[in-house]
Amino acid sequence: MMVKELLRSHTSVRKYTGEKISKEVVRDLIETAQMAATSHFIQAYSVIWVSDEEKQQKLGELSNNAFQFQTAGAAFLFCVDFKRLQAAGKKQGVEIVADSAENLLAGVADVALFAQNFVVAAEAEGYGICYIGGARNKPAEISTLFDLPDYVFPLFAMTIGTPTKRNETKPRLPLDAVLHENSYNTEKYDQLLDEYDALLEKYYENRSSNKKTANWTKQMADYLIEQRRPFMKEFLASKGFTWK
Ligand SMILES: Cc1cc2nc3c(=O)[nH]c(=O)nc-3n(C[C@H](O)[C@H](O)[C@H](O)COP(=O)(O)O)c2cc1C
Repeated sequence: MMVKELLRSHTSVRKYTGEKISKEVVRDLIETAQMAATSHFIQAYSVIWVSDEEKQQKLGELSNNAFQFQTAGAAFLFCVDFKRLQAAGKKQGVEIVADSAENLLAGVADVALFAQNFVVAAEAEGYGICYIGGARNKPAEISTLFDLPDYVFPLFAMTIGTPTKRNETKPRLPLDAVLHENSYNTEKYDQLLDEYDALLEKYYENRSSNKKTANWTKQMADYLIEQRRPFMKEFLASKGFTWK
């Protein structure tokens, strides 16, 4: 399949055959992902391959997503990592300034690019994946489970495996809602969001599984009406990131 066709066919997969993914495949996919671009070459990521069955189930429970971990062929925890950069500084006799809002943003961007290249490589091999942001529900417990040191924190987990079936793709926002030319235009949103709500209502009513009555603006309003994971700032501070 051509790369563009592959990207356009992405859907999250939450049920797998249970067939385990070999160490060779895991190492190959991670090494491939490492070639993603990285802010200032900092490579500020680490990934925990959760090959221990008990730990895999525990990660699923702590993430409130136990279901997809039960049949996954492998599970991973993707982390922002400035610990190794601290070691690099030490080797040069320097105490690095890890704790800054700028480093936090650079680290998050690095992990996202690394993870997404992993996803594309995995999907090209016929695997399905699901990102698990639910890993941020219990970040302190998860950090303990995997012995994460200071300057390392979990950004998301991921399940991967051979899909039992593939869902139809989920329609994204109209192109012109996300594409602005030369200057930002808020005026177009009223009409485009109406169009998108109508499109998604149809999609949810007609899709092959988990049919429901829903639209995008209502989903987003319900999700964002309150502060999500209000403990996060304090957790990040406990890991050494106070947004200086
Ligand atoms: C960072 C991130 C975190 C996510 N967390 C979860 C999660 O915890 N559980 C889940 O079932 N899906 C999760 N997803 C999947 C999204 O729900 C999914 O990508 C989105 O609804 C679009 O659907 P699609 O990937 O099938 O096109 C996550 C996706 C991303 C990028």
